Amino acid sequence: METEATLSASKEPCCGENPPEDAGRRDFLTRATVALGAVIAAALSATGIGYFISPAFQKREEDWVDLGRAGDFKAGSPALVEFTQRRRDAWVTSERRSSAWVATADGKSFTAFDPRCTHLGCPYRWDAGSERFVCPCHTAVFGPDGHVISGPAPRPLDQYQTKVAGNRLMILPKAEKKA
Ligand code: FES
Repeated sequence: METEATLSASKEPCCGENPPEDAGRRDFLTRATVALGAVIAAALSATGIGYFISPAFQKREEDWVDLGRAGDFKAGSPALVEFTQRRRDAWVTSERRSSAWVATADGKSFTAFDPRCTHLGCPYRWDAGSERFVCPCHTAVFGPDGHVISGPAPRPLDQYQTKVAGNRLMILPKAEKKA
């Protein structure tokens, strides 16, 4: 009897061995954990990549520039206004100094001219005596509304879009060619 009891006890699984169903469960849990980790890593990578490349796909907003109080511009006396233009392209922000001639006939509606002559790009000036814009390079002459009066300029002065927001005069410094 003593011998049988010893034999039957030796057939029971010992504490250090795993039955096949335990091994299968452990294998499944390991695979599930690895798969879940891969999914989380992929999600985090996609978020990180998106964060870094999204500026390249962002549509740049139009860059209106504030030129000051609309009421400060005198009717019939165009003024040269300097401004700083800031542009953001993807990750890069740049600044550029520029200027515009601002004219108004009534203090309510405004015209902003690109300060470069439409002949070869020289800066022109306002001649208060003749009430015309005059280019010193090849003597092109433009009226207060920018049309060509004389000289070699092939077209009127280029203009910027304008708007009054609140009491501020704003321009969009992207020259539009006038035919
Ligand atoms: S650049 Fe102005 S007339 Fe030539």
